[in-house]
Amino acid sequence: MRLDKAVSQVTDLSRAEVKRAARAGRITVNDDVVTDPSSKVADSDLLCLDGEPLAEPGPRYFMLHKPLGYVSATKDSEHPTVLDLLDEPNKQKLHIAGRLDIDTTGLVLLTDDGQWSHKVTSPRHHCDKVYYAHLAEQIDDGAVEKFAKGIWLENEKKRTKPARLEILYANEVRITISEGRYHQVKRMFAALGNRVLELHRERIGDIALDEDLEPGDYRPLSADEIASIQ
Ligand code: URA
Repeated sequence: MRLDKAVSQVTDLSRAEVKRAARAGRITVNDDVVTDPSSKVADSDLLCLDGEPLAEPGPRYFMLHKPLGYVSATKDSEHPTVLDLLDEPNKQKLHIAGRLDIDTTGLVLLTDDGQWSHKVTSPRHHCDKVYYAHLAEQIDDGAVEKFAKGIWLENEKKRTKPARLEILYANEVRITISEGRYHQVKRMFAALGNRVLELHRERIGDIALDEDLEPGDYRPLSADEIASIQ
């Protein structure tokens, strides 16, 4: 791989910035200064910038408190994205393990570990997602059974998997689902003739949104939180 590419992959420097750093003699390969950014390097070579060894960082895992108005995408021409809230090198390598709608708030997990995020999102791994919802209309006890049985969503061939509905107040509920179909929670309530006014994700599996995180804040996951996703 070219030196400039290799260095930009493990730092937050652009290829142009790496080229300038190389020409300024700030990069060494196995202790030799290399000023030509197009030089070839091998995975086994030790690259240093300003004398500091550069290594591919291990997989990274973060929880973010998503505010209203941010899209769960890595790029968007109209709206800010959840990645805009992160101050991390190479953040474009991170992806979102389970998106939220622009008007949904709460827990978002970001990682560069594809296998781990598959366990979070694949319905086969039964990783529960817990949401608080504020509804336009009052909800009656009959809804609990309907959610437990699974709901037919418009234009879908299969019922939703059983969901747990807890009625907190006349029009406030907590709902637990193990799938992540498109706009699933909103469509489940729409199927009962209701409407979600506010939706907030509180938990994914055993990972609860940290109460100390204000909207827009994030932190790395703990080792226990990472290991809790099986
Ligand atoms: N279900 C929805 O309808 N929207 C979300 O953002 C998440 C789950």
